[in-house]
Order: sequence, then C-alpha cells, then structure tokens
Amino acid sequence: MAAIYSTLLFLLTLSESFVGIFSNGVGVNYGRNANNLPPPSQVPNLLKSLTINRVKVYDSNPEVLQAFAGTDIELIVGLGNEYLQTMSSDPQQAQTWIQQNIQPYLPQTKITCINVGNEVLKDDSKSALYEYLLPAMKTMHAGLVNLGLNKQVCVTTAHSLKILASSSPPSQGVFREDMVQYINPILEFHTQVHSPFFINAYPYFAYESDPNNVRLEYALFEPNEGVVDPNTKLKYDNMLYAQIDAVYSAIKALGFTDIEVKISETGWPSTGDENETGATVQNAGLYNRNLMQRMQHGQGTPTRPSQPIDIYIFALFNEDMKDGLTSERNFGLYYPNGTLVYNLGVQSYAPPRIEYSSSHKNVRTFFSFGFVDLTPCLRDE
Ligand SMILES: *[C@@H]1O[C@H](CO)[C@@H](O)[C@H](O)[C@H]1NC(C)=O
Ligand SMILES: *[C@@H]1O[C@H](CO)[C@@H](O)[C@H](O)[C@H]1NC(C)=O
Repeated sequence: MAAIYSTLLFLLTLSESFVGIFSNGVGVNYGRNANNLPPPSQVPNLLKSLTINRVKVYDSNPEVLQAFAGTDIELIVGLGNEYLQTMSSDPQQAQTWIQQNIQPYLPQTKITCINVGNEVLKDDSKSALYEYLLPAMKTMHAGLVNLGLNKQVCVTTAHSLKILASSSPPSQGVFREDMVQYINPILEFHTQVHSPFFINAYPYFAYESDPNNVRLEYALFEPNEGVVDPNTKLKYDNMLYAQIDAVYSAIKALGFTDIEVKISETGWPSTGDENETGATVQNAGLYNRNLMQRMQHGQGTPTRPSQPIDIYIFALFNEDMKDGLTSERNFGLYYPNGTLVYNLGVQSYAPPRIEYSSSHKNVRTFFSFGFVDLTPCLRDE
C-alpha cells in the first residue's frame, strides 16, 4: 500500500499540473487574414455583444494582445508553423519568444494557452514539420516553467480531424496508423502537463463532400432522428458531438484516459462556390446559432453529458485574403464592417427580461442594446 502511495505521490510531483481555469461558454477564432478589418481595439466590444469571452488568435500581434488588456476575455495565442523548426531545437529562443510575446502582456491580458502550430499533421505526404511539432511544444513548455508561467499558461497544438482514420461510429474512432508515432508522444505530453487536446472539426466539410448521404439536419443541430452508436447504444443528434466522441475513442485506444478534447475550430460558411453545397447564410446561421445555444447551456457529448465542451467558432470575421474556395473567405460571424452576417440570437450578460409581443410567436428579450428575437428562425433579413 505504502509503496503504491509513494509511487502516486512521485508521479504527481513529476507532472507539472496546469491549474489555470478555463471558463465555459463559447470562444471564437479571431483570424486576421484580411485587409479591411476594424482595428483590434474595437474587437472586445464586438465580442461582448455576442457574450463571447474566449478568443483564439493565430499569432502574437502586439496590437491585438494589447487590445484585450483589462478585459475579461481569455486569449489563446498562436505560434505559427514557420516557428516550429527553430523552436524545436533552441530552448533559449523559445524562452526569449515567451519573454517578448507573452510575458509583457500578463496579467492584464488573460493569456491562457500557447497553441504551437496549426494542423501540422496532415493527410498528405509526410512533412518535415511532423518531427518538429512535439519538440517545439516541449521547449515552449520548458520556457514557461523557467519563467514561472506554466501554471497559468498551457501549451497545446490544434489538429485537423484528418488525423482520424475512422470516426464512425464514435466508439470506433481511431487515429491514422501512420500518425500514431507522432500522436502517441503528444498525448504523453498532454497527460504530463495537463493541457487539452485541440481538434478542428467541421461537419460542413462532411456534408459538402457527400450531401446525398449526410443529413443536413444532423450536421446543423436541427431536429432529426439521430444516429445510434451500435456499441454504446448512445444516440447522437448531431455530427459534431459524434466527431468529438470519436476523438475521445481514438485517444482511449492508445491507452490515455485523462485528456480533455476541445474544439479549436468549428464553423459553417455563409457563401461558397456553386459546387460547395450547403454554404448558405441560412445554414451558417443555423449551425452557429444552434451551437452557441447548446454551449451556453453547458451541454456535453453523449459519452460525457455533464462535461461542458469548450469550442472556438471559426471565425469572427470574413477574411478576404484567404486562399482557396470562396467558402474559405466566408466563415465569419461578422462582415468586416462590424455587421453580423446573420442573427445569432444571443442573450445578454444580464438576466434577460422576457416579454411576449402581441404578435403571435415572437418571444423577445430586452437588454441594453435592443431587442433580439430568440425564436429560431430560418431566414434573417
Ligand atoms: C468547385 O469549383 C471550383 C471553382 O469554382 C474548383 O476550383 C473546384 O475544384 C471545384 N470542386 C469540385 C469538387 O468540383
Ligand atoms: C456591411 O457589409 C455588408 C456586406 O458587404 C453589407 O451587406 C452591409 O450593408 C454593410 N453594413 C453597413 C452598416 O454598412
């Protein structure tokens, strides 16, 4: 017995726990691949009007980090893929980067995590970056430890869902065999430092690539029959939760049980090319409105119903300088001029005063900046 306890104690002391608190609710990715966005100083107010209190950015732009100083908004700061090689082999550089890009903004800007690399493990041919990813995460973490910041700032990386070989049914989720050699030690790292596993998951792409077989309602969190996992008998009424549980299964299949999965990106485009089925204002509004409502109620997935999911919607703005299909430039909740692309039916911070308007179905909520129609609607004017 005593031997077991001392082993446990030893293990606990070894792992440098991350004890920062993530708040619940909805986060958003603040991408800035555009030439027409409002100045960063205006962004905190846009977020407050949506009751969004968590933001993920893709770099460490000083103006952006400064813009969130003194707000309650938590920030995940990105370290781009172009840094991975240098950071992987040079701990001093990693520490200097933290001293220059993170430390000066703490604690006024609530930086909770550094996201090292975005979608590094891809589905195409093996990249040199694969080898640099975990070493770069480790040097960044070591830098935080040296600076005494590792208890408030975590280190993670955001993966593409393409690292899964199978996601259906959710209980059978597994990572691609050729990725396991990279993912396994990353999972060991997460376990040791208690940082979350981030995955970018887009039911939109599943629908767009196979609209005849994927039910739109299932992808959009709209009422539908759902899908039962034959192994667990759990019923899924939406694709995102099935994707999340598939990731949990894949992690468990490698023997890890103590790692939290968070959605670093999800969203739906409001416009696309003609052949991009489903990319409409109506669908994008339904997806993000339904998702935000579920998150604000603290809903969990079928395997973890009482554990609220942390998600970051992609993205805050339409970004006109992104390459690729038209949809890539149209994932925003906002147009660059600060107008919402569709109604998000967001409730205010203050407890809303519900009024029933004389006209039929409309339940309206009054708060300081006006009326928001909470009736689920199919089309926004
Ligand atoms: C859809 O159209 C775009 C051009 O508008 C083209 O680049 C792309 O390859 C097409 N995709 C498919 C699946 O046909
Ligand atoms: C903002 O931009 C959108 C899209 O270009 C446009 O439809 C809308 O009228 C603009 N709103 C304002 C207030 O200028």
